[in-house]
Amino acid sequence: MPHEVFSPEWAKAWGEELNNNDVYRQAARNWKWPLVLVMAEEATEPTRQVYLDLWQGTCREARLATNDDIDKVPYVIEGERTNWLAILKGELDPIMALMRSKLKLSKGNLFALARYGSAAKELVKSAANVDALLPGSAPVAENGAAVVATPVNGKEKVFATTSLQGLRHDLLPMKLYQKAKRLGIWNPSDISFEKDISDWQGLNDLEKEVLLHLTSLFQAGEESVTLDLLPLMMAVAKEGRIEEEMYLSTFLWEEAKHTEFFRRFLDEVAEDCSDLSRFHSSAYRRIFYEELPTAMNALLADASPAAQIRASATYNMVVEGTLAETGYHAYYEMLQRNNLLPGLREGIGLLKRDESRHIAYGIYLLSRLIAQDTSLWRVLEKRMADLLELALETINQIFEPYEVLPFGLKPEDFIGYAMDQFDKRMKRIEQAVSKPFDEIEFEA
Ligand SMILES: [Fe+2]
Ligand SMILES: [Fe+2]
Repeated sequence: MPHEVFSPEWAKAWGEELNNNDVYRQAARNWKWPLVLVMAEEATEPTRQVYLDLWQGTCREARLATNDDIDKVPYVIEGERTNWLAILKGELDPIMALMRSKLKLSKGNLFALARYGSAAKELVKSAANVDALLPGSAPVAENGAAVVATPVNGKEKVFATTSLQGLRHDLLPMKLYQKAKRLGIWNPSDISFEKDISDWQGLNDLEKEVLLHLTSLFQAGEESVTLDLLPLMMAVAKEGRIEEEMYLSTFLWEEAKHTEFFRRFLDEVAEDCSDLSRFHSSAYRRIFYEELPTAMNALLADASPAAQIRASATYNMVVEGTLAETGYHAYYEMLQRNNLLPGLREGIGLLKRDESRHIAYGIYLLSRLIAQDTSLWRVLEKRMADLLELALETINQIFEPYEVLPFGLKPEDFIGYAMDQFDKRMKRIEQAVSKPFDEIEFEA
């Protein structure tokens, strides 16, 4: 049965392989020192360390190392996961790795160690003979990925929650997941529309028309983000990012509730069951009928980092971060100023809180993808440039049919807020171009 590298079982099997390796016994006959090998902590997983008690060509003990071992042994060799994996796969010579700083001798004398080059090679050969699973393949496992063990010489998979990895509670998606369980459990059916019904009856035709117009945009917008999220969930699930998928399960549920909430308002307060797509302008249709579903569904055929960036830029940055957030902000302020429709306001207040978590996840996702390959920043910039004009056109077209706007509504309130938010977020994501991913601070 295969074992994860740097696990206790793997270390033990390595020791047994060494004791069956005659070439090693000969090459290491003068070696008399225990050593610790450290696979350094990365964004994806904690440090793992193995203790080998090597004595004159035999292995007397092989197990996970304690910090006490590190203090006592004369040799400690540290390396990043990718370098250890390259060594174990025979792609990187262990002594060469030490010379070129791909492995670091954090304790001991390199010159003395270098004399045992052939013993080191045999040591590694024995390790490679162990039926092993590598935790994560390189592109998937970097930058906060959940680690899925990929088979080296078997077809078994490893589940994060039953392996050494466990759940990464330090990752932003897990923090958002915890927050969603506390703040995202509001029930649209519990909101009282009693006062809203009497407020609605007191409105004139223009006021009703404008409110119906805006509600129709939110309504279809919420339905479209509910319908279009699944391909992204599938993409992160395929990459074994359990923490992200767990968070996205709350995300999808919240979008479904937003859809329910607006429909409830239309049914019970506006009592309107007409075809509201008459309010959907050409720019709105381009975004919600074409660009969003196309970018999201593209992930079903191509879930590459560039495709994920195009999808998230469209969904999280433009639809949620520019249009929805701005729309809700201006709509909420307007209702508040006029002391109107308290049930609608209450729902929008709760929904805004959900949306801020969705956008936070989008910033995290885009930053993770860009930190992994900084050339993708250009893909994000291009996608944003392509869509931003369309988003601003969508906002402008809301006001076109009206000569006079009720409730003191002003187009500038929508556009100004949208631009501010957009700029703030792009600056945050841009940090991923110059900073290591694990040094970026995310707001949960
Ligand atoms: Fe939503
Ligand atoms: Fe959302």
